[in-house]
Amino acid sequence: MGIGRKGREKDMGEREGRGKDREKAIGEKKEKKEREKVLGGEEMWVKGGGERGNKGVGEGEGKSGLGSLHHYLDDHQSLPDNHTSQKVHQPLPVNTPCLHHDPITTKMSRRLAEDLGYMKNDSGFFSKAVHEGVSSSKWSHRALVPPVVTSTLFDLSSDEDYFYSRIKNPTRSCLQEALAATENAKFGVVVSSGQAASSLVVHLLKTGDHIVAMDDIYAGTNTVLRDIVPRMGIEIDFVDMRDLSYVRKLLKSNTKLVWIESPSNPTMKVIDIRALADMVKQHEGILLAIDNTFMSPYFQRPLDLGADIVMHSMSKYINGHSDVVMGGVVTNREDVYNRLDSLFTTLGPVPSAFDCYLVLRSLKTLPVRMEQHMMTGLEVARFLEGHPCVEKVLHPGLPSHPQHQLSKSQSFGHSGMFSFYIKGNDLETAKNFLKKLKVFTQATSLGGPESLCVHPATITHQQLPLEERERYGITAGLIRVSCGLETPAHLTADLDQALRAAVPY
Ligand SMILES: Cc1ncc(COP(=O)(O)O)c(C=O)c1O
Repeated sequence: MGIGRKGREKDMGEREGRGKDREKAIGEKKEKKEREKVLGGEEMWVKGGGERGNKGVGEGEGKSGLGSLHHYLDDHQSLPDNHTSQKVHQPLPVNTPCLHHDPITTKMSRRLAEDLGYMKNDSGFFSKAVHEGVSSSKWSHRALVPPVVTSTLFDLSSDEDYFYSRIKNPTRSCLQEALAATENAKFGVVVSSGQAASSLVVHLLKTGDHIVAMDDIYAGTNTVLRDIVPRMGIEIDFVDMRDLSYVRKLLKSNTKLVWIESPSNPTMKVIDIRALADMVKQHEGILLAIDNTFMSPYFQRPLDLGADIVMHSMSKYINGHSDVVMGGVVTNREDVYNRLDSLFTTLGPVPSAFDCYLVLRSLKTLPVRMEQHMMTGLEVARFLEGHPCVEKVLHPGLPSHPQHQLSKSQSFGHSGMFSFYIKGNDLETAKNFLKKLKVFTQATSLGGPESLCVHPATITHQQLPLEERERYGITAGLIRVSCGLETPAHLTADLDQALRAAVPY
């Protein structure tokens, strides 16, 4: 990769040293490859050692690699006395002693989602989040933390991969690899915002093509589809995709993209991703793209359910610290990736190397944060469901949610996102409630450590026509909640005091 090389002015002796460094790095790469071969190669974190990107949940179990060992231990609690699996004696990429205890801790931390009946999550996800994309063998100095390569240009005197940072950048490459791994994808592209990611996907199409999009989606995406897409000469239809027969009726010979968000922002509608993917696959040339921002790859991996493209606003859970704006797109389709990569180079939505470094850092704690967001979110949602000042709570993890069963059958849990209708469902009460909050902040965005409440009708979705908002359920009394990482009791106490102060009950 050439990071850490000293520069043009160095004398021949140093050049020789540099050559040796590079040789060493190549040797290390080889050594790592050999080690990975023994451990199951790049599939080593995938549950059951299955093929990355092509395995459904629960498929391909018990083959090779760390994943299968975790899986075995999940079922058996401890290794049998006579267990002499060669895997334990290999130079494992994670702390070997943890293997004997890990199943207990992962079992405990994932108990909530599993007890609620969500799909069993990949026990290797935690390791994947820490190690993918950031191997120290990529650079000669072997730093464990990837270098922040701010250089826009690269010395072209050797045939390295890097040329100019708009086209490719080492820190960005690490993040792309790591992001793709978390979604069980082969390819990833990271861009300067979630909006840029949606725009890049839309640019896969050309004049004369047709898109079918879910009607109730993030307002920014809605604007891209309503404003930009028709100017490109692309037709667009919006439809409520909870009933897939509506989608079927809209598919036609020039349909090239089906766009969904599940759960939707802010009304938390859940779409049957598997069934939609099956339907789309019956029509040649249609791509199914899903905005997975609300779930993060930890709780939902749509490529495994049959989607072709997953898009993220990484400004939310993936970065998770409310300090980076970034987007990402992943896919298993090489043709789609090549086109996205070429569009990226041409359109230039480049995220900074420093931001890529920050998001790589955040990715390592994604599973831990998501577990906590889920626990806190559910506790707060349950509290509100029983509150006299609340009309209704929309949270896919609650049995009262209309697609609760569906949600559990296609996800591994749920994030800290949900919405609720305040009693009376009127603007004045909603605004008063928001003003009284002391621990929650009234702010847009989501997925950070601080808990937020926002009023979709006047903030995030205010650009939609009133009649449309009402149809989707974005009424004056709807409040969207992003549960952060604070003490749950502080959050419920805050909501309670604000509700009692604002609602005339
Ligand atoms: C579901 C969803 N998708 C996409 C976006 C756009 O992402 P960004 O703000 O990173 O451009 C947002 C932003 O709030 C969002 O909530």
